[in-house]
Amino acid sequence: MKKLIIGNWKMNPKSETEALAIVEKIKKALIPIVGIDLILCPPAVYLDRLYEEVRLTSIKLGAQNAHERNSGAFTGEISIPMIKKWVRYVILGHSERREIYKEDDKTINKKVINALIHNVSPILCVGETIKEMRMGDNEVIIKQLREDLKLVSPKDMEKMIFAYEPIWAIGKERGADPQYANQQIGLMRQAIASFYNRDLAIRARILYGGSVNASTVKDYLDQPEVNGVLVGGSSVVAAEFIQICKIAMGK
Ligand code: 13P
Repeated sequence: MKKLIIGNWKMNPKSETEALAIVEKIKKALIPIVGIDLILCPPAVYLDRLYEEVRLTSIKLGAQNAHERNSGAFTGEISIPMIKKWVRYVILGHSERREIYKEDDKTINKKVINALIHNVSPILCVGETIKEMRMGDNEVIIKQLREDLKLVSPKDMEKMIFAYEPIWAIGKERGADPQYANQQIGLMRQAIASFYNRDLAIRARILYGGSVNASTVKDYLDQPEVNGVLVGGSSVVAAEFIQICKIAMGK
């Protein structure tokens, strides 16, 4: 299985010009992209322009969120049909959405189902708080998975991508210990096997996310359970992200 590298730009950069410059640098440094799959998730307002930039490359685009309904009176929201001409992926259940915008598993589950209906692959994020980590409470990530995947068929599971993003490891100097990330992702895989079957669990792509940078990416990718990385802050610094991708490509 090819390693999957995803850049979650969050609410960055501040202008379309800067966004274009990042993508141009990535294209120049990395194409032809061999040995990895690469997905960029910029703010939705840049998708139209960036789509033109990556259309003829193997770089794919994802959104960072989308509403569970297709249209309606939901001020400020964006729906899957509005963005689906540009994206094949959508990040759902990110801890910043859960914590800051109080999205619960019931809503995240609706978002997952609606994305799948439109053939857009959810990149479903789960992760525990520092308190839960200290208590050794692993049930929390299993519960998130169970609730977020309610009514997702085995066939639709083929389209899903997962990310283990421990909340306490996001936006820090250092991420989670790679062995710890490996162990948690192993638990997620076991949970998927118990909800579905072993074969689906083995094929599920589960990434690690949380303060990944060029000096730590290899330690995560070397872990047997880790199928790739979801990069936040370091994905909007072109040189750093290029380096991360090169390391993942074995260059
Ligand atoms: P950082 O890489 O900035 O810690 O962010 C991780 C993340 O939230 C990716 O979705």
